[in-house]
Amino acid sequence: MFHALIGHSPNFEALLRSAKVVAATDVTVLITGETGTGKEVLADALQKHSPRAGKPFIKLNCAALPEGIAESELFGHRKGAFTGAVSNQLGKLPAANGGTLFLDEINSLPLSLQAKLLRFLETGECQPVGETQTQSVHVRVIAATNCNLFDKISTGDFRRDLFYRLNVVPLELPPLRERRSDIELLLQHFMKQFAQVHRLEQAAFSKTALARLGSYPWPGNVRELRNLCERLSILLPGRIIGVENLPSEVLGSAPGAQKPVVFLPDVGIALDKVETELICQALQRTHGNRSKSARLLGISRDTLLYRMHKHGIST
Ligand SMILES: Nc1ncnc2c1ncn2[C@@H]1O[C@H](COP(=O)(O)OP(=O)(O)OP(=O)(O)O)[C@@H](O)[C@H]1O
Ligand SMILES: [Mg+2]
Repeated sequence: MFHALIGHSPNFEALLRSAKVVAATDVTVLITGETGTGKEVLADALQKHSPRAGKPFIKLNCAALPEGIAESELFGHRKGAFTGAVSNQLGKLPAANGGTLFLDEINSLPLSLQAKLLRFLETGECQPVGETQTQSVHVRVIAATNCNLFDKISTGDFRRDLFYRLNVVPLELPPLRERRSDIELLLQHFMKQFAQVHRLEQAAFSKTALARLGSYPWPGNVRELRNLCERLSILLPGRIIGVENLPSEVLGSAPGAQKPVVFLPDVGIALDKVETELICQALQRTHGNRSKSARLLGISRDTLLYRMHKHGIST
């Protein structure tokens, strides 16, 4: 059950436990969480494991509703109700009768419609545009938002009464940075999945790459992680993915550091050799001028002389 949702961290498992209890009921659910945390996957799982599984499951993205036709999209309209209403149209709510309606990005629902949705949630009565009669519709509503509805309430953009009506059971998806112990699990899951999907040999991460990915804040959450896995699976099939293969946004996130200037390869390096090499290059570039070479290397002339002596470099 709920196996589409990968994660074993304590806060994620607590959420799944609540979700399983809620799935079995008809109660209205409000799913919150940052972008890419899995709100839609959770809504799917709730429906699939509810007594309404197999009944209509209609999804409506409130952010994609053109203002003028939003009401008729939700409740439907009668032929002739307005210019352009050439035939009766069934709204999403009546279409979901007996099943579930997923109202995604509920924060974007126009204020005028918020009042009408609230009335429906309280009475179960649906009135298509241009229709004098109401009809009873039995729909379980799952709503999702990726922005804080309290902020919207305080600016007058979201009705407080609708919020409380939707928020009967809140399910909050934690951002990935708050369940870091799941990062490796998700990486492995998606690397395996994309190797299969694209029929390529599965790539793996080196320890240092895993450590870097584990400390990255993942602003795009699981979606970002999933997309990175797909890209790396395709570009580096069968390879061990090292730190140097990670994208710049991940590398720029080393604790307290900016993007590194050089990368330590997973196989390691001989630091003495690298130092010798850099000193020789600086001396060559400055035609043996030690002061200029020291400046290029960001060290004092004395330190340069000491290191040249140490490595047996002469000009
Ligand atoms: N726990 C998870 N296990 C497996 N896959 C997940 C999980 N969470 C999210 N995903 C995957 O991440 C992607 C984004 O998930 P989803 O669309 O549900 O995010 P969302 O919270 O609805 O984001 P948005 O607010 O941007 O709409 C999807 O490809 C989904 O399959
Ligand atoms: Mg979504």
